[in-house]
This record gives sequence, C-alpha cells and structure tokens, in this order.
Amino acid sequence: MIESSSPNRWTQNSALNRWIEEAIALCRPDHVHLCDGSDEESDRIATQMVEAGILTPLNQQKRPGSFWCHSHPDDVARVEENTFICSEKKEDAGPTNNWSEPAKMREHLKKLFNGCMQGRTMYIVPYCMGPLGSHFSRVGIEITDSPYVVLNMKLMTRMGEPALKHLAQDLFVPGMHSVGVPLKKGEKDVSWPCNPTDRRIAHFPETREIWSYGSGYGGNALLGKKCFALRIASAIGRDEGWMAEHMLILGITNPQGEKKYIAAAFPSACGKTNLAMLSPTLPGWKVECVGDDIAWLRIGSDGRLYAINPEAGYFGVAPGTSMKTNPNAMKTLVRDTIFTNVALTAEKDVWWEGINGAPPPGLINWLGKPHDPASGQPAAHPNSRFTVSAHQCPIYDTAAENPQGVPISAILFGGRRKGTIPLVVEAYSWAQGVFFGAALSSETTAAAKGAVGQLRHDPFAMLPFCGYHMGDYFAHWLSMGEKSPPDKLPRIYSVNWFRKDPSTGQLLWPGYGENSRILKWIFERTSNQAPGRETPIGILPESIDLSGLSLPHNASENLFRIDQKEWQAEIEELKKYFQRFASKMPLALLAELDSLKQRFQ
Ligand code: OXD
Ligand code: MN
Repeated sequence: MIESSSPNRWTQNSALNRWIEEAIALCRPDHVHLCDGSDEESDRIATQMVEAGILTPLNQQKRPGSFWCHSHPDDVARVEENTFICSEKKEDAGPTNNWSEPAKMREHLKKLFNGCMQGRTMYIVPYCMGPLGSHFSRVGIEITDSPYVVLNMKLMTRMGEPALKHLAQDLFVPGMHSVGVPLKKGEKDVSWPCNPTDRRIAHFPETREIWSYGSGYGGNALLGKKCFALRIASAIGRDEGWMAEHMLILGITNPQGEKKYIAAAFPSACGKTNLAMLSPTLPGWKVECVGDDIAWLRIGSDGRLYAINPEAGYFGVAPGTSMKTNPNAMKTLVRDTIFTNVALTAEKDVWWEGINGAPPPGLINWLGKPHDPASGQPAAHPNSRFTVSAHQCPIYDTAAENPQGVPISAILFGGRRKGTIPLVVEAYSWAQGVFFGAALSSETTAAAKGAVGQLRHDPFAMLPFCGYHMGDYFAHWLSMGEKSPPDKLPRIYSVNWFRKDPSTGQLLWPGYGENSRILKWIFERTSNQAPGRETPIGILPESIDLSGLSLPHNASENLFRIDQKEWQAEIEELKKYFQRFASKMPLALLAELDSLKQRFQ
C-alpha cells in the first residue's frame, strides 16, 4: 500500500504519475490512496464504510463477508441522457449518441472537478480488463472519491498491483470519477453522496479518456464496465480490427463431451446473466460461464473468432433471480457479495421480488424504510444489483482465464419482443447476421433511467454503449466478416424468449433452463447436424427437442409464426430507422433489408 506520503513516485509509469499529480491539484482531496487490490485493503475500506453507516454487514451465518447498501433515490441506474461521446467531429459520435465538443466539455468538467474531492479521500484504482498477461487485455486507472466504487472494482476487475504490473507493457485509459459532493471542514457525509443536478458521463474516444461526475451507481461510476470495456474499447477495436460487444459468453458441452462456445448480445436486464449461467433441463448437457455482460472478440491466427470476458465479476440485476430461474447465481451470492438497493430482512439477509414467495415480515425496503406490502411498491428497486467475483460461480469456466480467449461457434442477438420475432432464426450469411444485429429492437427495462416497456431500436444491444457512429460500427462488423472464410466464422442467430400469445398476453416460452433446447439446436446446426427450413426471414428449426416439456396450446406454432403483416410493418420501420445513419449506412445492410422485403412478395 502506498499512501500520499510518496507523492512524486506513485508508480513506475511517469505518464501515470503526472496524471495523478494533475488530478490531485484539480480535485484537492484531503487524502490520497493508491489501491493495491489486497483483501486487507478492501476489508479496511469496508470497515470504515460500516462505521460511517454506509454499508450494513449481512448476517455472517447466512451470508458471510457480504454487505447491503442503498443509494440516493435519484441515483439508481445508468443515465443515458447525461452520457456523452466527445469526438472532435460530431458526425463521429453519430445520431445515437449525445455529442459534445471536446473542448467545451473539458472546460465544463474542469469546473465541476475543481475542488470536488475536498474533505474526501481520492482513491487511485489501477485495474486490468481481461486476463493478466493476455495480449487482449487493457489497463485502466480510475481515480474516484467513492469507496463503494473501490470495493466494486475489486470484485469486477483484476484490480491493484497486478494491474500496474500489466501496465508496464501497455498504455492506460484514464478515468476520473467523482460523486460531486465536496465536504466542508467538519461536515458530516451522507450515506450515498451524488449530485443529480449536473451528472456527466463523458467519453473522449480519440484520446481514450473517461470523466464521470455526479453519480455513484453502476455503469456510471464503475468505469471499467460500460465506459471503458464498451464505449472506449469499441472505438479502440474499430481502429485496431477487433470488437468490444455487450455479450455474454458461455461454454456448452453435449452429452458426448464435445464443447463449444456461444456469445450472445441482449439489451440490459433481458436475461444475459441467466443465460450465461443456465442450468440445462435437457439431460446430459452442461453449460459453463465465461462472462455475463461483455465480450472482446478478435480473429485468431486460425481464422476463428476468439473472445475474452474483460470483466472478473458480475454486476447482476437481483429481482427475478431465484433458485428456479438461476440457481447458479444464487449459489454464487452465498458470500462476499455487495447488494445494492435490494430489500433487507429482519434477520439481516437480502430479499427481492421473485426470490421466493411473499415478502417476509419486518422487511426494510431499498429506500431504507419499513416495507409496506399494501403500497404496491416493490421492496427492492427493479434495477437493484449484486456485485460478486466470477470465481464464486459454481459453473465458472476456467477457460475464462485463458489469455487466448475461447473460440466462438455461434453469436446470438436477442431482444424483449412480444410479437413478430420467432423463438430462433439462423442467418443465411454473416451479412444477414449483421443485419439481425442492426435490426435488433427491445422493450426498455429499469437498467436505464426512463420509462420501462417501450419498444426501441437497440442495434447489437449496443445503443447506449457504442463509442462512435453506429453506421461505422455496422460497417466494422461487416468488415470483420471479410477477415475469414465463412466456414471459420461463427453462425449468427436471432432469438426471442419473450414472445407472447396475442390473445392471452401470456409468455409462450418458459425460458431459463428450457433455453437449453434452443442452444442444442444451435450447437448441432454449427456441426451441420440439425435440420432447418428456409423461410423469408432465415433458417428456422425443422424441430426443437421438446421432450418432457408441456407448452400451452398452440405455443410451439405461435413461437415460430412468421406473420406477413407484422414483418411488413417491421421492414417499413427498419427502413425509416436505417435512414438515420444516412450515408454511413452500409449498402450491404440496405441490400439485406431489400432482399427480406422481396422474399415476402
Ligand atoms: C449492465 C447494463 O449493468 O447493461 O450490465 O446496464
Ligand atoms: Mn450490460
């Protein structure tokens, strides 16, 4: 551990030392601490937070090493409207991002950060995204005044001294973070400081920098996650010929012992963690988890697409997680977990909607108040989260530590769609697969601030996370497909677990462990072992293994129904949407849309 008594020599890296000194001069913290990432360090910080009333230790018998906390009621999710891509040219941010001129944003940020850490400790958090020693991996340094962020970064990344060692051969991505609440001499802190009046989550893709002000929550504040591993990394990937994606990675083994890897993109809070940790209902099949949120993908020397999970932990949505929906997540959360905005039981354990039956008596809700079941309000916030190390997952795939990554056989794109989109469709080609990604729409969830349940375009599940022009991003995907022969590339699928019966409004597909039936078809397709039938929208299964599953009447027909009227409306909507990207819209994708239209005539 190095404390502020050695100010001129923080690390072996002179550029980093200079940046730290500039940050100290700007933010004027009372104390500075360079994090070494040790358990002693996080224990000490946790103890201080407990003493300050910020963290509540959970029942040590039930959930050792775990804590509960709750946020400010206005700091509960990613703030997309306050998230900016500050590229030199506006057109490089594209129509899906908020843009601000870099010089203007810098000027504003300098004002916001001026003295913002007075009365607080500045933590310098070195972290590595990706396995230590992997040529895929990158180092970031987050400077933050939030001890909560430090504890979360320790669980979510390879943090501290090992990351600094990795930095010796690399450049770092600087990330400045402040909750934006300086303290006057003697002023008592609040339990969740934040500054909702002027939040800024600003990215400078050309200089690979992040500045985040005013929020202490999730993707706004844990800068390794969305800010670095997606927004900045997507821009680095474009420049260097690889891809940073909002995708889980799972390993799947068939009863004969053959193993393949699948990557899958879904918008936030659409079941990525559940799919990544799936317990197959089909006998003899096994799933292992490489990652639940982000994948960095590049073509290997054998022409196949390889993926790493840059993260080292899960920041998962709690509500709906149960022994029925995701037993592996529940077993992951038995110890050493931070729970944010869930409810607290009288026995000092955690509770959320969907965990198991009715709320127990004596529950404290996510606002820290006694829960009133009659209020109709949930006890846990819909975007409440658990933060936990991936190593605790009982099906953690040790290949996640492989510096070369894992070879991907199939890529899935899925959204939350009550109509139109069938349970599973295979693309005829890489280009059509890219079209599937570009055409993705989904109903909004509580993961971002704003209304829930509204259908919005979310291309590649990257709408809030693409660090440059979405049209250029589509072109980048197409160009990746030109780097290898088609038989080396993963096949691409569209999936939809959320289709509803239009007459009853009931979900048609049970999802969760039953999704193994769809994964089985995909697995076998990628070895040319499962029949499919050609349709206007792509290849549908000839049959799915439904043994032992009873579906509602007509469900299997409805799950695969291709409704001409719905598709015509979809095509018209996509036509309009793609116009937003103007001259940057790749002609190959417009041709895909055109062919789709033709196939319906
Ligand atoms: C997440 C998100 O936290 O997508 O992973 O919002
Ligand atoms: Mn996510």
